[in-house]
Amino acid sequence: MPTDSHTAPATSPTSATNATLAAMQAIVGAGACLSGDADTESYVTDYRRIYRGKAQVVVMPSTTEQVSQVMAWCHAHDVPVVPQGGNTSLMGGAVPDDSGTAVLLSLGRMNRVLAVDTINDTMTVQAGVTLNAARTAAEQEQRLFALRIGSEGSCQIGGNLATNAGGTAVLRYGNMRDLVLGIEAVLPDGRIYSSLRGLRKDNTGYDLKQLFVGSEGTLGIITAAVLKLMPQPRANAVAFVAVQSPEAAVRLLGVAKQHGGQAVTAFELISAPALELVLEYLGDVTSPLPARHDWMVLIELTSGGSDESLNATLMEILEAGLAQELVLDAAVAASLADAQRFWRIREEISDAQTRTGGSIKCDVSVPLSRIAAFIGDASAKVLALEPAARMVIYGHMGDGNVHFNPLRPKDRSAADFLGQWYAPISEAVDTLAHAENGSISAEHGIGVAKRDDLKRYKSPVELELMWQVKRALDPKNLLNPAKMLPRLD
Ligand code: MLT
Ligand code: ZN
Repeated sequence: MPTDSHTAPATSPTSATNATLAAMQAIVGAGACLSGDADTESYVTDYRRIYRGKAQVVVMPSTTEQVSQVMAWCHAHDVPVVPQGGNTSLMGGAVPDDSGTAVLLSLGRMNRVLAVDTINDTMTVQAGVTLNAARTAAEQEQRLFALRIGSEGSCQIGGNLATNAGGTAVLRYGNMRDLVLGIEAVLPDGRIYSSLRGLRKDNTGYDLKQLFVGSEGTLGIITAAVLKLMPQPRANAVAFVAVQSPEAAVRLLGVAKQHGGQAVTAFELISAPALELVLEYLGDVTSPLPARHDWMVLIELTSGGSDESLNATLMEILEAGLAQELVLDAAVAASLADAQRFWRIREEISDAQTRTGGSIKCDVSVPLSRIAAFIGDASAKVLALEPAARMVIYGHMGDGNVHFNPLRPKDRSAADFLGQWYAPISEAVDTLAHAENGSISAEHGIGVAKRDDLKRYKSPVELELMWQVKRALDPKNLLNPAKMLPRLD
């Protein structure tokens, strides 16, 4: 039977820690190891400050060879290892538990762009390159690396792969799984797997690299990757649009695809409470639209053509939307500054919630044909439980993925609201999504936050297969233990 915990080492914590520290220092050098509560604090605490663990040592290797040696030593000494990229997980996936037995392996020093191949349209990077640095390196060669998420300044490519990150351009370019052509990963026993070849076709057996994508660091530590590059779009057109309802938003998406085809890059839903929260939080921004509307969408088109022709396509979409009574009002970005202002509103929703506190983060997807019904049903369920909850609903409507995040009423504390409603509301929302053939975690992963819930939503066959894969690669259950896989009793 798989276990999700570890027996404490037989020696006292101090002597075990000293031995681990000495071993890690011998591999990476003393300057690349941290120990003690004060120095490790920022690594063992997640960025929303919900999960706080402990680590024997934080080790920061700078080469794949060093990662391999760290893993081999930890494997030989039964020491659990928690890999960490930019520590931006929303699910507690990148911090250790509080037993203090784990080594935390931070990839941040492996931050080199190794090669950009403008003929193959690929880029080879170490895992600790931030998403922002990867996008900038591509831009310098007039290419696009297409992953786009709000935390791009901190999150790292290794973590983006390990969590199969999604974001606001999935509609056009796919998620991280679609953007990778090769992976190098260190296995729990220190062996190195590599497929850093940049091939678009390779049918020579199982596609092993994809096993590591979305594995949340439970099967191997991703140390490098070959990423797909796209042509850099020359034109973009952005509109902030008030729509009648979520159903009208879905129909408008259909209209946009009909007129814009491939150019439809982002289609993001924003509810009135989400907009109000972010305007209040930012202080220096106003709504692009003069009146209050219950539902809005942010539409972005991009293309290799001209701004004029793309704007004409956007206008066609909006006019068709008005004619079909889907659109109530629209603000079209007249400049790059306008477009950035519209996007800032969308991208700050997450931080506005974190700062406000008391948000129940459900990240669900359902088939597009069911998303409007899902939003209606789930909202009715939540409001029947807590009529004053602020319905912060937003996200990647174009992918059938909404962040459905009821927020505490203004006059209730976060602790009070979450204490009463976290479990019942997340369960109600997840149950409805599951009943619509949906997913209870569309893009944020499982980590610790949703681990035990998986038992309710995955079939016994799926759970058993997941554990079989885990045991095949990590028979000692040392790599990111107690994350993602629920214990099977
Ligand atoms: C987003 O779409 O803003 C992100 O997934 C982050 C979040 O939902 O908190
Ligand atoms: Zn998102």
